[in-house]
Parts: sequence; C-alpha cells; structure tokens
Amino acid sequence: KILANTLFLGKKVIYMPSCHSTNDLGLQIIQNTDTIEGTVIVTDDQKKGRGQRGNSWISEPNKNLMLSIILKPSFVKPADHFVLNMAVSLGVRATIADFLPSTTCNVKWPNDLFIGRSKIAGILIENSVRSGSIENSVIGIGLNVNQLDFGGLEATSLLSENGGKKEFDRIHVFEQLISNIEAQYLKVKSNKTQELKEYYLQHLLGFKQSMKFKSEYDFEGIIEGIDSNGRLMVGVNGKVEVFDFKEIEFLL
Ligand code: BTN
Repeated sequence: KILANTLFLGKKVIYMPSCHSTNDLGLQIIQNTDTIEGTVIVTDDQKKGRGQRGNSWISEPNKNLMLSIILKPSFVKPADHFVLNMAVSLGVRATIADFLPSTTCNVKWPNDLFIGRSKIAGILIENSVRSGSIENSVIGIGLNVNQLDFGGLEATSLLSENGGKKEFDRIHVFEQLISNIEAQYLKVKSNKTQELKEYYLQHLLGFKQSMKFKSEYDFEGIIEGIDSNGRLMVGVNGKVEVFDFKEIEFLL
C-alpha cells in the first residue's frame, strides 16, 4: 500500500506479518545502497523487539504499531543527531494528540511518550555514520494502540486512554503517524532547528519543574533545557549540570 498524503515517507511500505525486529530488518536493508529514503517496515507481531538501554520491547500481536522508518539525513552531522530525535518524538506525540485530543501527552527526555505516569510509545533510533555525516537512520517506533493489558507495567495505549471500548483503526493511526513524522522531518531538512527545539521544550515532561532523578545517587533538580548535543540540563543547588542518556534516569 502506498501512502497518498506524504511527499516521500511511506511511499514504499514493507509489511511483515511477523518478524524478530523491524529495526533489525531496517539495519539489514540499508546495506543495499538502492534502499529509498522513507521506506517503512511494519509488523503485526514482533518476536524480539528491542528498546533503549538494551531493554526488550514486548507487544501483544495485532494490537499495536511497530515499525521502522529509513531516513537518509546526510545533511545532519553526528553531533547534531538529537534533531532527528526531536522531530520523531514530536511526530509521535502529535499523532497521540490527534487521536486523544483532550489528553496531555509529553515527551520524557530523550524520546519516550508518556501520558501521566504511563508510557504509551517508545522510539529507538539507530544511525550509521559515514564521512562525518549520518548516512542512514533507522527510526524504530512502538506505539501502543489497542492493547489493554500490560501485565502490571506502567504502560497505556490509545484505547486504554479512550475508555477501552472501540478499537482504533491501526491503518488510520499508521497513516497519520507517517504524515506527522514527515512534517517534523521536513523542519529538520529545512534547518528549522530552533523551531523544533522550542516545540520540543513545550512538550517536554517536567520542563522548568522539579523532578527526581537517579544518577550516581538520587537527587532532585529542575529541568532547564537541552544542550546542543541533546544532553539534559538540570539545575541542582543553583548550578546547571548536563547529563548524557547513559548518565541519568528519571524517578517518576
Ligand atoms: C524504548 O522505549 O526503549 C524504545 C522502544 C522501540 C520499539 C520499536 S518497535 C519497532 C522497532 N523495532 C524494534 O526492535 N524496536 C523498535
């Protein structure tokens, strides 16, 4: 199926009824130099979904969206990779907002989507770098759509948030998602980084608020922003400290 409402995202869609991981498939197909930008790999049943920090991503079959998008952002320097992260998080967030217009959904830095204390979507971006720029980016997205039971985990879905009665049409959510991500990625392409960053901060969970964190020790601090490398800036005792993804976790 070819998406009609986009310029280049989703013009080629590879559908796998079942697979190990759409990101793994994405990493394989970028080996072929003729892979076109905007190719999407989507599955209904992912057996070995991967998440960040080496976690696994587990999803009930046929209920949610699990997909990977191939981008070729060769105009982005590896040091600026966070712009991709902002664009994708905001595209996913906008989609959740489209289907749940009266619910607040925020981005938990760097790229988890949260409603209240529950995670509704996660993103795993894997870049390949060549000659000082990002040659390929495999953008993996897991968005909980119609799953209701999360086995006690703090997770939610569009359907759980909407009262649990009428399932969402996943194809419709998919099309909206692809189109929203393209809209944000076009901002990256036209170098509207400042606009993206303002929009990201506007939806950043805990921005300018006091939050609890775990680093070498547990502490409380105020999220002051994101630096140009995408690191989290936290004000602690009147001083701003910056943290890499590996160096800090939220205590929600
Ligand atoms: C996270 O929250 O830690 C990121 C989760 C990313 C999950 C998606 S599902 C589709 C794609 N394929 C994978 O193996 N992972 C991503």
